[in-house]
Amino acid sequence: MKALGLSFGRKNRNSDIMVKQVLKQMKTRGYEVEFINLNELNIQYCTGCTGCVVNLMQGGNGACVLKDDFHIVDEAFKEADAVVVCAPVFALSPNGLFKTFVDRMGPSHDISFLTNAREQGEAMGKSEDKLPDKRWFKPRAAALMVVGGASTKNWTSLGLPSMFELFSNGMSIVDAYSAHGGMEFEHMVGNEKLMARLTEMGNHLADALETEGGLDKWYGDDEGVCPVCHNDLLTILHSGATVECPVCGISGELKIEDGQIKVDWPAEQIARSRLKYPGKLEHYLEIRNSAMTMKKIPDLKEKLAAYKEI
Ligand SMILES: Cc1cc2nc3c(=O)[nH]c(=O)nc-3n(C[C@H](O)[C@H](O)[C@H](O)COP(=O)(O)O)c2cc1C
Repeated sequence: MKALGLSFGRKNRNSDIMVKQVLKQMKTRGYEVEFINLNELNIQYCTGCTGCVVNLMQGGNGACVLKDDFHIVDEAFKEADAVVVCAPVFALSPNGLFKTFVDRMGPSHDISFLTNAREQGEAMGKSEDKLPDKRWFKPRAAALMVVGGASTKNWTSLGLPSMFELFSNGMSIVDAYSAHGGMEFEHMVGNEKLMARLTEMGNHLADALETEGGLDKWYGDDEGVCPVCHNDLLTILHSGATVECPVCGISGELKIEDGQIKVDWPAEQIARSRLKYPGKLEHYLEIRNSAMTMKKIPDLKEKLAAYKEI
Protein backbone atom coordinates (compact mmCIF):
# COMPACT_ATOMS: atom_id res chain seq x y z
CA MET A 1 0.00 0.00 0.00
CA LYS A 2 1.19 3.49 -0.82
CA ALA A 3 0.87 6.81 1.01
CA LEU A 4 1.41 10.12 -0.72
CA GLY A 5 2.21 13.37 1.12
CA LEU A 6 1.66 16.74 -0.54
CA SER A 7 2.98 19.99 0.92
CA PHE A 8 2.27 23.48 -0.36
CA GLY A 9 4.61 25.28 2.06
CA ARG A 10 8.27 26.30 2.13
CA LYS A 11 10.92 23.64 1.81
CA ASN A 12 11.55 21.88 5.15
CA ARG A 13 9.30 24.28 7.04
CA ASN A 14 6.02 23.66 8.88
CA SER A 15 3.83 22.07 6.16
CA ASP A 16 6.65 19.83 4.91
CA ILE A 17 7.47 18.49 8.38
CA MET A 18 3.81 18.07 9.36
CA VAL A 19 3.15 15.96 6.26
CA LYS A 20 6.37 14.00 6.78
CA GLN A 21 5.39 13.28 10.41
CA VAL A 22 2.23 11.55 9.15
CA LEU A 23 4.20 9.68 6.47
CA LYS A 24 6.81 8.63 9.06
CA GLN A 25 4.07 6.86 11.04
CA MET A 26 2.57 5.30 7.93
CA LYS A 27 6.01 3.91 7.10
CA THR A 28 6.10 2.15 10.47
CA ARG A 29 2.69 0.69 9.55
CA GLY A 30 4.28 -0.83 6.44
CA TYR A 31 3.30 1.75 3.82
CA GLU A 32 5.53 2.77 0.95
CA VAL A 33 5.67 6.57 1.18
CA GLU A 34 6.21 9.37 -1.33
CA PHE A 35 6.50 13.08 -0.58
CA ILE A 36 6.04 15.97 -3.01
CA ASN A 37 6.41 19.67 -2.31
CA LEU A 38 4.34 21.38 -5.00
CA ASN A 39 6.60 24.45 -4.87
CA GLU A 40 9.26 22.34 -6.54
CA LEU A 41 7.06 21.59 -9.55
CA ASN A 42 5.90 23.80 -12.38
CA ILE A 43 2.12 23.71 -11.97
CA GLN A 44 0.32 26.14 -14.25
CA TYR A 45 -3.06 27.53 -13.32
CA CYS A 46 -6.25 26.29 -14.98
CA THR A 47 -7.22 28.71 -17.76
CA GLY A 48 -10.84 27.49 -17.72
CA CYS A 49 -10.71 26.20 -21.32
CA THR A 50 -13.08 23.34 -20.29
CA GLY A 51 -11.30 21.01 -22.75
CA CYS A 52 -11.18 18.31 -20.04
CA VAL A 53 -14.95 18.51 -19.41
CA VAL A 54 -15.84 18.40 -23.13
CA ASN A 55 -13.50 15.42 -23.59
CA LEU A 56 -15.01 13.56 -20.60
CA MET A 57 -18.53 14.20 -21.85
CA GLN A 58 -17.48 12.46 -25.08
CA GLY A 59 -16.22 9.38 -23.24
CA GLY A 60 -12.56 10.48 -23.17
CA ASN A 61 -9.99 10.54 -20.36
CA GLY A 62 -10.29 14.27 -19.64
CA ALA A 63 -6.57 14.91 -20.09
CA CYS A 64 -5.47 18.52 -19.56
CA VAL A 65 -4.02 20.42 -22.52
CA LEU A 66 -1.44 22.24 -20.36
CA LYS A 67 2.10 20.90 -20.61
CA ASP A 68 3.80 21.19 -17.22
CA ASP A 69 4.73 19.02 -14.22
CA PHE A 70 1.17 18.21 -13.18
CA HIS A 71 1.53 14.69 -14.59
CA ILE A 72 4.08 13.91 -11.82
CA VAL A 73 1.63 14.53 -8.99
CA ASP A 74 -1.25 13.10 -11.03
CA GLU A 75 0.58 9.78 -11.38
CA ALA A 76 1.55 9.76 -7.67
CA PHE A 77 -2.11 10.42 -6.74
CA LYS A 78 -3.35 7.55 -8.91
CA GLU A 79 -0.87 5.18 -7.28
CA ALA A 80 -1.69 6.26 -3.71
CA ASP A 81 -4.04 4.45 -1.33
CA ALA A 82 -3.68 7.22 1.25
CA VAL A 83 -3.10 10.94 0.71
CA VAL A 84 -2.09 13.54 3.32
CA VAL A 85 -2.06 17.20 2.38
CA CYS A 86 -0.94 20.37 4.18
CA ALA A 87 -1.11 23.98 3.00
CA PRO A 88 -0.05 27.14 4.80
CA VAL A 89 -2.77 29.67 5.58
CA PHE A 90 -2.38 32.91 3.60
CA ALA A 91 -4.99 35.60 4.28
CA LEU A 92 -7.31 33.21 6.16
CA SER A 93 -7.38 30.50 3.42
CA PRO A 94 -4.98 27.90 2.01
CA ASN A 95 -2.34 29.59 -0.17
CA GLY A 96 -2.69 30.29 -3.90
CA LEU A 97 -0.54 27.34 -4.93
CA PHE A 98 -3.03 25.01 -3.26
CA LYS A 99 -5.93 26.66 -5.13
CA THR A 100 -4.01 26.30 -8.40
CA PHE A 101 -3.64 22.60 -7.66
CA VAL A 102 -7.31 22.23 -6.69
CA ASP A 103 -8.46 23.78 -9.96
CA ARG A 104 -6.30 21.33 -11.91
CA MET A 105 -7.92 18.50 -9.89
CA GLY A 106 -11.40 19.88 -10.73
CA PRO A 107 -13.93 18.36 -13.16
CA SER A 108 -11.14 16.40 -14.88
CA HIS A 109 -10.78 14.35 -11.68
CA ASP A 110 -14.41 14.31 -10.56
CA ILE A 111 -15.29 10.69 -9.90
CA SER A 112 -18.83 11.09 -11.33
CA PHE A 113 -17.44 12.59 -14.55
CA LEU A 114 -14.78 9.86 -14.72
CA THR A 115 -17.29 7.05 -14.07
CA ASN A 116 -19.67 8.25 -16.77
CA ALA A 117 -16.82 8.91 -19.22
CA ARG A 118 -15.42 5.43 -18.65
CA GLU A 119 -18.82 3.77 -19.22
CA GLN A 120 -19.43 5.85 -22.35
CA GLY A 121 -15.88 5.31 -23.69
CA GLU A 122 -16.03 1.55 -23.09
CA ALA A 123 -19.38 1.35 -24.92
CA MET A 124 -17.70 3.17 -27.82
CA GLY A 125 -14.89 0.58 -27.81
CA LYS A 126 -12.12 3.04 -26.89
CA SER A 127 -8.66 1.69 -26.00
CA GLU A 128 -7.45 1.75 -22.38
CA ASP A 129 -5.12 4.75 -22.93
CA LYS A 130 -8.05 6.86 -24.17
CA LEU A 131 -10.22 6.03 -21.13
CA PRO A 132 -10.07 7.43 -17.58
CA ASP A 133 -7.38 5.51 -15.66
CA LYS A 134 -8.84 2.60 -13.64
CA ARG A 135 -6.73 3.58 -10.60
CA TRP A 136 -8.98 6.63 -10.00
CA PHE A 137 -11.75 4.27 -8.94
CA LYS A 138 -9.96 2.53 -6.07
CA PRO A 139 -10.87 3.40 -2.46
CA ARG A 140 -8.56 6.08 -1.10
CA ALA A 141 -8.22 7.60 2.40
CA ALA A 142 -7.23 11.22 2.89
CA ALA A 143 -6.27 13.59 5.68
CA LEU A 144 -6.20 17.37 5.32
CA MET A 145 -4.22 19.96 7.26
CA VAL A 146 -3.46 23.66 7.34
CA VAL A 147 -0.91 25.59 9.34
CA GLY A 148 -1.16 29.26 10.23
CA GLY A 149 1.40 31.52 11.87
CA ALA A 150 -1.10 33.48 13.98
CA SER A 151 -1.71 32.68 17.64
CA THR A 152 -5.43 33.35 17.26
CA LYS A 153 -7.30 30.44 15.71
CA ASN A 154 -9.74 32.69 13.88
CA TRP A 155 -6.87 33.90 11.67
CA THR A 156 -7.05 30.46 10.05
CA SER A 157 -10.87 30.50 9.84
CA LEU A 158 -11.32 29.54 6.16
CA GLY A 159 -8.24 27.33 6.05
CA LEU A 160 -9.41 23.81 6.83
CA PRO A 161 -12.90 24.14 5.26
CA SER A 162 -11.27 25.31 2.01
CA MET A 163 -8.95 22.29 2.00
CA PHE A 164 -12.10 20.23 1.33
CA GLU A 165 -12.14 21.80 -2.16
CA LEU A 166 -9.90 18.83 -2.90
CA PHE A 167 -13.02 16.64 -2.85
CA SER A 168 -13.43 16.05 -6.57
CA ASN A 169 -11.89 12.59 -6.97
CA GLY A 170 -14.03 11.15 -4.22
CA MET A 171 -11.38 10.06 -1.74
CA SER A 172 -12.66 9.45 1.80
CA ILE A 173 -11.52 12.30 4.02
CA VAL A 174 -11.20 10.57 7.39
CA ASP A 175 -9.18 13.09 9.42
CA ALA A 176 -8.38 16.80 9.34
CA TYR A 177 -6.40 19.18 11.51
CA SER A 178 -6.00 22.93 11.65
CA ALA A 179 -2.75 24.04 13.31
CA HIS A 180 -2.17 27.62 14.35
CA GLY A 181 0.39 29.50 16.40
CA GLY A 182 3.23 28.68 14.00
CA MET A 183 5.01 31.91 14.90
CA GLU A 184 5.23 30.82 18.55
CA PHE A 185 7.74 28.13 17.58
CA GLU A 186 10.95 28.49 15.63
CA HIS A 187 9.56 25.45 13.81
CA MET A 188 6.41 23.37 14.39
CA VAL A 189 8.71 20.34 14.79
CA GLY A 190 9.19 21.64 18.36
CA ASN A 191 5.45 21.55 19.07
CA GLU A 192 5.34 18.10 20.65
CA LYS A 193 1.58 18.05 21.13
CA LEU A 194 1.03 18.72 17.44
CA MET A 195 3.61 16.18 16.32
CA ALA A 196 1.98 13.52 18.54
CA ARG A 197 -1.40 14.35 16.99
CA LEU A 198 0.10 13.92 13.51
CA THR A 199 1.51 10.52 14.44
CA GLU A 200 -2.11 9.64 15.28
CA MET A 201 -3.16 10.98 11.88
CA GLY A 202 -0.82 8.42 10.30
CA ASN A 203 -2.51 5.69 12.36
CA HIS A 204 -5.96 7.01 11.43
CA LEU A 205 -5.21 6.77 7.71
CA ALA A 206 -3.83 3.24 8.08
CA ASP A 207 -6.77 2.19 10.31
CA ALA A 208 -9.28 3.63 7.84
CA LEU A 209 -7.80 1.53 5.04
CA GLU A 210 -7.28 -1.61 7.08
CA THR A 211 -10.54 -1.74 9.07
CA GLU A 212 -13.89 -2.78 7.62
CA GLY A 213 -16.02 0.35 7.31
CA GLY A 214 -13.00 2.48 8.20
CA LEU A 215 -13.33 4.69 5.14
CA ASP A 216 -16.79 5.77 6.33
CA LYS A 217 -15.54 6.60 9.82
CA TRP A 218 -14.50 10.06 11.06
CA TYR A 219 -11.24 10.00 13.03
CA GLY A 220 -10.99 13.80 13.60
CA ASP A 221 -11.01 15.49 17.02
CA ASP A 222 -14.39 17.23 16.69
CA GLU A 223 -17.67 16.10 15.20
CA GLY A 224 -18.30 19.68 13.95
CA VAL A 225 -21.72 21.02 13.02
CA CYS A 226 -21.84 19.23 9.63
CA PRO A 227 -22.16 15.44 9.95
CA VAL A 228 -20.40 14.85 6.61
CA CYS A 229 -17.38 17.18 6.40
CA HIS A 230 -17.30 17.86 10.18
CA ASN A 231 -16.60 21.57 9.63
CA ASP A 232 -18.25 24.31 11.65
CA LEU A 233 -19.27 26.72 8.87
CA LEU A 234 -22.92 27.50 8.14
CA THR A 235 -24.52 29.68 5.49
CA ILE A 236 -27.73 31.42 6.56
CA LEU A 237 -30.24 31.14 3.71
CA HIS A 238 -32.70 33.70 5.08
CA SER A 239 -35.65 31.37 4.66
CA GLY A 240 -36.86 30.54 8.16
CA ALA A 241 -34.18 28.68 10.11
CA THR A 242 -32.72 26.84 7.10
CA VAL A 243 -28.93 26.76 6.93
CA GLU A 244 -26.50 25.19 4.50
CA CYS A 245 -23.08 23.64 4.87
CA PRO A 246 -21.02 25.58 2.30
CA VAL A 247 -18.55 22.69 1.97
CA CYS A 248 -21.09 19.90 1.36
CA GLY A 249 -23.95 21.95 -0.15
CA ILE A 250 -26.55 20.27 2.08
CA SER A 251 -29.27 22.04 4.04
CA GLY A 252 -30.77 21.57 7.49
CA GLU A 253 -32.82 23.35 10.14
CA LEU A 254 -31.05 25.35 12.82
CA LYS A 255 -32.26 25.11 16.42
CA ILE A 256 -31.02 26.03 19.88
CA GLU A 257 -31.07 23.14 22.36
CA ASP A 258 -29.95 23.70 25.97
CA GLY A 259 -28.31 26.93 24.83
CA GLN A 260 -26.35 25.11 22.09
CA ILE A 261 -26.60 25.69 18.34
CA LYS A 262 -27.67 22.45 16.63
CA VAL A 263 -28.77 21.58 13.12
CA ASP A 264 -31.24 18.86 12.08
CA TRP A 265 -29.86 17.43 8.84
CA PRO A 266 -32.40 15.27 6.95
CA ALA A 267 -30.98 11.90 5.84
CA GLU A 268 -31.67 12.69 2.16
CA GLN A 269 -29.58 15.86 2.50
CA ILE A 270 -26.70 13.99 4.15
CA ALA A 271 -26.79 11.50 1.27
CA ARG A 272 -26.44 14.25 -1.36
CA SER A 273 -23.35 15.95 0.06
CA ARG A 274 -20.92 16.79 -2.74
CA LEU A 275 -18.29 14.86 -0.77
CA LYS A 276 -20.28 11.71 -1.69
CA TYR A 277 -20.94 10.16 -5.09
CA PRO A 278 -24.70 11.03 -5.32
CA GLY A 279 -23.90 14.72 -4.71
CA LYS A 280 -21.26 14.71 -7.41
CA LEU A 281 -23.56 12.87 -9.82
CA GLU A 282 -26.27 15.48 -9.22
CA HIS A 283 -23.81 18.17 -10.34
CA TYR A 284 -22.58 16.11 -13.31
CA LEU A 285 -26.16 15.68 -14.56
CA GLU A 286 -26.88 19.38 -13.97
CA ILE A 287 -23.89 20.34 -16.15
CA ARG A 288 -24.69 17.76 -18.84
CA ASN A 289 -28.34 18.87 -18.99
CA SER A 290 -27.35 22.56 -19.13
CA ALA A 291 -24.97 21.78 -22.01
CA MET A 292 -27.73 19.92 -23.87
CA THR A 293 -30.43 22.57 -23.36
CA MET A 294 -28.16 25.63 -23.67
CA LYS A 295 -30.02 28.70 -24.98
CA LYS A 296 -28.50 29.82 -28.27
CA ILE A 297 -28.14 33.60 -28.79
CA PRO A 298 -28.96 34.22 -32.48
CA ASP A 299 -27.15 37.60 -32.77
CA LEU A 300 -24.26 36.66 -30.46
CA LYS A 301 -21.49 37.94 -32.77
CA GLU A 302 -23.10 41.36 -33.12
CA LYS A 303 -23.84 41.56 -29.39
CA LEU A 304 -20.19 40.77 -28.52
CA ALA A 305 -18.87 43.21 -31.17
CA ALA A 306 -20.22 46.08 -29.08
CA TYR A 307 -17.69 45.17 -26.34
CA LYS A 308 -14.62 44.97 -28.57
CA GLU A 309 -13.67 48.63 -28.21
CA ILE A 310 -13.03 48.31 -24.49
C1 LIG B 1 1.25 36.18 2.45
C2 LIG B 1 1.08 35.51 3.78
C3 LIG B 1 -0.13 35.56 4.42
C4 LIG B 1 -0.31 34.91 5.64
N1 LIG B 1 -1.55 34.98 6.22
C5 LIG B 1 -1.77 34.29 7.37
C6 LIG B 1 -3.06 34.28 7.97
O1 LIG B 1 -4.04 34.88 7.47
N2 LIG B 1 -3.24 33.58 9.13
C7 LIG B 1 -2.21 32.90 9.73
O2 LIG B 1 -2.43 32.28 10.76
N3 LIG B 1 -0.95 32.90 9.17
C8 LIG B 1 -0.71 33.56 8.02
N4 LIG B 1 0.54 33.53 7.45
C9 LIG B 1 1.63 32.76 8.10
C10 LIG B 1 1.81 31.37 7.49
O3 LIG B 1 0.63 30.63 7.47
C11 LIG B 1 2.85 30.57 8.31
O4 LIG B 1 4.09 31.23 8.26
C12 LIG B 1 3.00 29.11 7.88
O5 LIG B 1 3.75 28.44 8.85
C13 LIG B 1 3.72 28.96 6.56
O6 LIG B 1 3.79 27.59 6.22
P1 LIG B 1 5.19 26.84 5.91
O7 LIG B 1 6.03 27.00 7.15
O8 LIG B 1 4.82 25.45 5.64
O9 LIG B 1 5.78 27.52 4.71
C14 LIG B 1 0.77 34.20 6.24
C15 LIG B 1 2.00 34.17 5.59
C16 LIG B 1 2.16 34.81 4.37
C17 LIG B 1 3.50 34.72 3.69
